[in-house]
Amino acid sequence: MTAEPTSARSATGYDAETLATLAGDAAEIMSRYPDPRSGLLPMLHLVQSVDGYVSRDGIMFCAEQLDLTAAEVSAVATFYTQYKRHPNGTYTVGVCTNTLCAVMGGDAVFDELSEHLGVGHDETTEDGAITLERVECNAACDYAPVMMVNWEFFDNQTPQSAVEVADRLRAGEPVAPTRGASSVCTFKQMSRVLAGFPDGRADEGVGAGGPTLEGLRIARENDWKAPAVSQGSDQAAAEPVATEGEPSAGEPGSSAEREPAAPSDVAPGGKPGTPQAGPDPEKGSKHD
Ligand code: FES
Repeated sequence: MTAEPTSARSATGYDAETLATLAGDAAEIMSRYPDPRSGLLPMLHLVQSVDGYVSRDGIMFCAEQLDLTAAEVSAVATFYTQYKRHPNGTYTVGVCTNTLCAVMGGDAVFDELSEHLGVGHDETTEDGAITLERVECNAACDYAPVMMVNWEFFDNQTPQSAVEVADRLRAGEPVAPTRGASSVCTFKQMSRVLAGFPDGRADEGVGAGGPTLEGLRIARENDWKAPAVSQGSDQAAAEPVATEGEPSAGEPGSSAEREPAAPSDVAPGGKPGTPQAGPDPEKGSKHD
């Protein structure tokens, strides 16, 4: 059961107009899922699109809408780095310092930006324009070192090019990513997109660039093809391989087959610690 979308008893500090708008958007998010609480992740982005971070009001709003406790919402919000626990800058500038980007110059890019902006990881410039972050691999290693501005790609960066982008952002000048959308939107606007409300820019710009397609080009030049897989080898590959002393998948005694032995064992439709967990007495055991 979900709480009423709007209520005079709301524990949030939102004014009535903001609360009504948020509740309308939340209803749309919840309608996408068989179980409304599955909408928590986009709903956290939704409150970030209003507050610029996951505020106390945002947590209470999500809890009320989804019939969760504030602690449950907080537990999710603190798990993922895309959810901010303090007011974020207009732009999140994330420098990939994962292995490949780091050796290709990502560490130097971050250090230069940090010194230039006067902030460290997860800190925001005094003018509120930029929150600087170290980020993990963006699956764009073919363009290393990569920088993201509100999750738009800036490829093949140098310390100088990164500083130039940051200065333009702070000056309010238009900045274009190297791939994808043709401009950079604000953190709040991007948060609304991540909540599942498209801004119509998904098809802007180039998708896969030259470096991403290079392997395909070389394969075609050399007429390389994936080896054909015969029906026989398919079946062979599908055969479970037994490890000595251990039951194979599907055999009695394997983890997939053994009967639930404790209340915390998971049954279909249930979860540990719930009344649904464990064998259904109506259906009996499959070994009966
Ligand atoms: S290591 Fe930076 S994008 Fe993969």
